[in-house]
Amino acid sequence: MPGNKKQNAGDHKTGLDLGQYLQQVCRLVDRGLDRLLPRATAKPPTIHRAMRYSLYAGGKRMRPALCLAAAEACGGARQDALHAACAVECIHTYSLIHDDLPAMDNDDFRRGKPTNHKVFGEGIAILAGDALLTAAFAILAQAPATARYSTRELVQELAQASGSQKLIAGQVADLEAEGKSIPLAQLKYIHECKTSALLCCAVRLGGMSANCTPAQLQALTDFGYNVGLAFQIIDDILDVTQTSEQLGKTAGKDVAARKATYPAMVGLPKSQAIARQLTDRAFAALRQFKGQAAALEAMATYLLKRDK
Ligand code: IPE
Ligand code: IPE
Ligand code: MG
Ligand code: MG
Ligand code: MG
Repeated sequence: MPGNKKQNAGDHKTGLDLGQYLQQVCRLVDRGLDRLLPRATAKPPTIHRAMRYSLYAGGKRMRPALCLAAAEACGGARQDALHAACAVECIHTYSLIHDDLPAMDNDDFRRGKPTNHKVFGEGIAILAGDALLTAAFAILAQAPATARYSTRELVQELAQASGSQKLIAGQVADLEAEGKSIPLAQLKYIHECKTSALLCCAVRLGGMSANCTPAQLQALTDFGYNVGLAFQIIDDILDVTQTSEQLGKTAGKDVAARKATYPAMVGLPKSQAIARQLTDRAFAALRQFKGQAAALEAMATYLLKRDK
């Protein structure tokens, strides 16, 4: 978890303690999800238990954290973006449940636990993903409008990022690239779609929930896009450099499945350099916020240096 010793020292310039910040965000999001989703005992209990199993398995909650931090950077309160943050985490968790299925990446471990289909069976895991995808929109539809953004615009934003031209497009292209040699531009397209689009959507929804200005929304878009690309490159690097215990998911799977990744295509040092360069671009986008985006900046640094 990010709330460990490494982050606890706090940032000298801003006084932000990222570990503490992320712990607070996790608590808020955990409680929000609990309140906004059907109870585990709701009929039929199997599906609600399966949804909650993966949601509460111990994810890093980085997308909701970025969403709430974006709202704060735009002068809003964390609570303003809670529906958006919970909706994005539901989409993310659904995408992981399906990503782990035998028909996709065929993974047995996720978030330090057996994958959803290992515990509940493939049929229920598919349905738990479907149910989380649906729940995300039910949750976001309850988000209040602001002066500049209607609830309908928030819903459209999430639909686009998760749809067949972004997240799903990326997953399709990822599967189709297995075992093939593809141009680097195609790999970048895969990362833009499968990972960066939802992460960017998280920060945009955070800003929109806080009634951000068009200039702020553009800055958040640039930030999210670049952090999102860096995020997937780091994920690919960690798959090579870390152990399964450290990651809470099976390491070394990308090479075994002959996935197209940055480490496979350009090597580890160059992959690390590209992730750093993308993170620098993300920092540059935050200049617009004149010091009000300390949490976003700290998260971008944390995501670059993370070890899980
Ligand atoms: C994993 O995302 C899937 C990718 C897009 C690389 P995370 O690393 O954020 O997974 P959790 O939510 O912490 O489990
Ligand atoms: C997952 O990418 C992207 C989505 C689920 C949309 P990966 O397949 O690399 O993620 P992990 O490594 O299984 O977490
Ligand atoms: Mg995958
Ligand atoms: Mg996978
Ligand atoms: Mg991966």
